[in-house]
Amino acid sequence: MDFIIDATLQAVAQLYQTQITAQDVNLQQTRKEFDGQVTIVTFPFTRFSKKSPEQTGNEIGAYLEANVPEIAGFNTVKGFLNISIADNYWLKVYQNTVAQPGFGVAPKNGKKVMVEYSSPNTNKPLHLGHVRNNLLGYAVAGILDAAGYEVIKTNLVNDRGIHICKSMLAWQLFGNGETPESAQMKGDHLVGKYYVIFDKEYKKEVEARLAQGMTEEEAKKHAPLMKQAQQMLQKWEAGDEQVIELWKTMNTWVYDGFAKTYKKLGVNFDKFYYESNTYLLGKDIIEEGLEKGVFFKKDDGSVWIDLTADGLDQKLVLRGDGTSVYITQDLGTAQLKYNDFGMDESIYVVGNEQDYHFKVLFLILQKLGKNWAQGLYHLSYGMVDLPSGKMKSREGTVVDADDLMDSMVETAEEYFDKQEKKLDLTEEEKQVLFPVIGLGALKYFLLKVDAKKRLLFDPNESIELQGHTGPFIQYTHARIKSVLSRGGEHQLAQLPAELDAVERDLIIVLSQYPEAIAAAAKEFNPATVANYTYEVAKAYNKFYHEKSILQAETEDLKSFRLQLSKSTAQIIAQSMQLLGIQVPERM
Ligand code: ARG
Repeated sequence: MDFIIDATLQAVAQLYQTQITAQDVNLQQTRKEFDGQVTIVTFPFTRFSKKSPEQTGNEIGAYLEANVPEIAGFNTVKGFLNISIADNYWLKVYQNTVAQPGFGVAPKNGKKVMVEYSSPNTNKPLHLGHVRNNLLGYAVAGILDAAGYEVIKTNLVNDRGIHICKSMLAWQLFGNGETPESAQMKGDHLVGKYYVIFDKEYKKEVEARLAQGMTEEEAKKHAPLMKQAQQMLQKWEAGDEQVIELWKTMNTWVYDGFAKTYKKLGVNFDKFYYESNTYLLGKDIIEEGLEKGVFFKKDDGSVWIDLTADGLDQKLVLRGDGTSVYITQDLGTAQLKYNDFGMDESIYVVGNEQDYHFKVLFLILQKLGKNWAQGLYHLSYGMVDLPSGKMKSREGTVVDADDLMDSMVETAEEYFDKQEKKLDLTEEEKQVLFPVIGLGALKYFLLKVDAKKRLLFDPNESIELQGHTGPFIQYTHARIKSVLSRGGEHQLAQLPAELDAVERDLIIVLSQYPEAIAAAAKEFNPATVANYTYEVAKAYNKFYHEKSILQAETEDLKSFRLQLSKSTAQIIAQSMQLLGIQVPERM
């Protein structure tokens, strides 16, 4: 809308002999209850006009109407000048942008960005928190790609450490050679089962020792299982063949299981990093930090950084025995990622319980003088809770990602079974549709909310065909596809001379697609795209209910409305795809 800003500068110069700049002009979208599409805030100009806001608005409005051909009229409401732009202008916007091939895909900007997401531990299956993580990561990556970045999707798998040894040990002691095949279980679930068994058996040992009168600390220390797990970790680090063999076998099971979950969830990665390869890396950086005086050593040999001047505290970066802590290896991995890809920006999608860790990590890298540390960003997200119902998470038991997805497919099936209006689909088509709807409902519900916010996932609300839901948008897409197939192929012939309000509103919202993507990319926020898509679906439904498409007054009008419908379907499909959500052709 640069032409309106320019014209406003001219108006103020002419009317009030004052030079203002583009930054002084505040343009907004006109509120629904008023006529017009663009609103100029005129309060600030009363300083120059020395008149009331209304009078100022009227004067500027009259000037604009007289001098700018695209401006068809105006009205003022207090300090707001609402401007109606000629239909001709919107039709050109439609033709020259929205209807062009490749609309919404920004040209490549030459920048590289890495998005690390998922990053599970291999001792148990993915859970509800991972679902939010994966959806956010995948969507952010897609949005950045559409905004012009080259994107590298990475997954840092935590495949070593004491927690992994716990599952391994429990399997060795209690597993009787059980395998995913023999147990008919996904590999990640099987390994997770032994992690739980470890915990149970370990608790028994601790309790027995408490009953003998040991203190809790002693009991935990003397529990044989914990000692054995620690021994196993030492053996692993020493390269013990048998331990490594078991570790490989069990990890293969887990990766097999993860791959199935990722596939079902529709996410993927360009590059995997494994902590078993990276856990020793950070030690060079510790040396570097000691040399540069960024870190200091305590008497016991442990290495620390003092961040009190930055409002944080002292933080351990290497244990006294020379072993790594979490941040040691994250420092090393950050450097490795940068060496591998030289990206301009690097995003870590990780839950908000690690806010402090990432603050410290980024600060350390800055203090070490790594220029690239400027481009690091923690995309922090809040917890997901489930309400009561069959998937309710009981205290201590997390909701499994596979179970949740299966249950959403069932939720979709049950929902349509209950509807009076039956789906006009074959049994096979339904078997394809239910996962699309069930997962679409889940994904949309999780993505429409700002990542920072904690959220309550309500399966029944998410599946509704009416309301701010994925299925509503999916249904709108299917509805358009049905109109298009009944309408047949149409070339856009003559554009109409004028537009109806619902047509104009639809064109305006469609034309905002690139801005929505750019805004979402800037803030790494998929919710912006999700909410935008909802606006598109709403605008289309309004248009659909108020205007006849196939029975339009003239053939030209019919082909114009079909064309508009086609553009809408494309934008809905594209933006949902960015969110990792499929849209059905029929439902
Ligand atoms: N594996 C870790 C966890 O499950 C998350 C790792 C996040 N990424 C990172 N670079 N620290 O808590």
